[in-house]
Amino acid sequence: MGKRALITGITGQDGAYLAKLLIEKGYEVYGTFRRVSTPNFWRLQYLGIVDKVNFIPCEMTDMSSMVAALKIAEPDEVYHLAAMSFVGASFENPIATLEINTIGTAIVLEAVRQICPDAKVYIAATSEMYGATGYEVKRPLKEEDFFKPLSPYAVSKLAAYWLGRIYREAYDMYVVNGILFNHESPLRGLEFVTRKISNEVAKISLGLSKELRLGNIEAKRDWGYAPEYVYGMWLMLQQKEPDDFILATGEAHSVKEFVIRAFEVVGIDDWEKYVVIDKKLFRPLDVPCLIGDYSKAKKKLGWKPQVKFNELVKIMVEEDLKRWERWLNGERFPWDAPLYPSEMKIISKVIRA
Ligand code: NAP
Ligand code: GDD
Repeated sequence: MGKRALITGITGQDGAYLAKLLIEKGYEVYGTFRRVSTPNFWRLQYLGIVDKVNFIPCEMTDMSSMVAALKIAEPDEVYHLAAMSFVGASFENPIATLEINTIGTAIVLEAVRQICPDAKVYIAATSEMYGATGYEVKRPLKEEDFFKPLSPYAVSKLAAYWLGRIYREAYDMYVVNGILFNHESPLRGLEFVTRKISNEVAKISLGLSKELRLGNIEAKRDWGYAPEYVYGMWLMLQQKEPDDFILATGEAHSVKEFVIRAFEVVGIDDWEKYVVIDKKLFRPLDVPCLIGDYSKAKKKLGWKPQVKFNELVKIMVEEDLKRWERWLNGERFPWDAPLYPSEMKIISKVIRA
């Protein structure tokens, strides 16, 4: 019999790619989603897997809905991805960020401990936890380097990371922290800088927009390709012993380099003509530089990034170009008509209207 997996945050970028990977591997996939006024299943529709997932309504700050999700899914593996994941917004909503990300993780761990303690658990930790350490360390960051968070988001994730380690040691549970550096794709949310750039540059090249408004373009990030990173998550849960791993590319590039490369993909050299620096888009604190050392994942998991910076930008810009060209031809995207698709399997203890 195939394995069963529960993915929290299945409607997000990583959740969608991971669901596709697990379905291809023969898993029975259950995914939690939150009830919002406009349903958000476009990524799963985009990947053509909406009819292959069992959906369970679940709000991360509500333990009863997590308990119900685990009872329904009876998972062998739990991938806890749901989070308030936008660093900038965590300065505006620090308390909600801590509730969703830290309390939410405590809820997952405690519910697994009580209901299915043998399930393996993946916790979505992040390079953002290193924060200011990036100034001080003159080499790519390693798992054992220390953390100096610079945002409420980073603090919320660092607390979640430690909860994961505590549950692993105190209760002998299989819990891993994936310390993932930034990973992007055409399914990235539009508020993150890479997709904001690829989308706007595609529009500019088609005459649909005139400017690209950005904040701190000197910040550097280690950007990888999301489908490869979800494969790394899966590998982390296939080991004999639980451990924490960094996934990264080992290269850092600035936001400015991303902009220049994106304009290069559409054949525009005078990129400065279109870029407006807007002070309102600067964060109160911003991590200046992140570069990760993935040698532990390479050695123990056999994981290695394939898609590097230039190709990543090309993939994203070309996909946004295709979308807007189709739009100009009158085609509409799934998210233009965001209905609950009739073929969705929604499992809930409460009868739906
Ligand atoms: P994402 O696209 O923002 O997806 C976040 C998911 O969490 C969405 O499904 C979202 O639901 C759900 N969610 C948010 N608040 C919730 C709540 N209160 N209750 C229930 N569900 C909620 O993020 P991602 O890029 O896929 O990242 C996945 C995880 O990895 C996150 O934990 C993120 O912090 C972490 N991470 C990401 C990166 C990266 O570069 N992508 C790097 C390191 C770590 P809606 O669709 O309804 O909004
Ligand atoms: N979002 C955004 N929008 N960022 C901008 C902009 C803008 O207009 N202009 C400049 N930036 C800069 C930000 O200040 C930051 O230094 C950098 O671009 C990257 O910002 P994001 O794309 O929002 O990503 P992030 O690095 O803050 O966070 C992402 O990666 C983390 C891992 O390091 C998210 O996916 C987090 O969830 C993840 O943990």
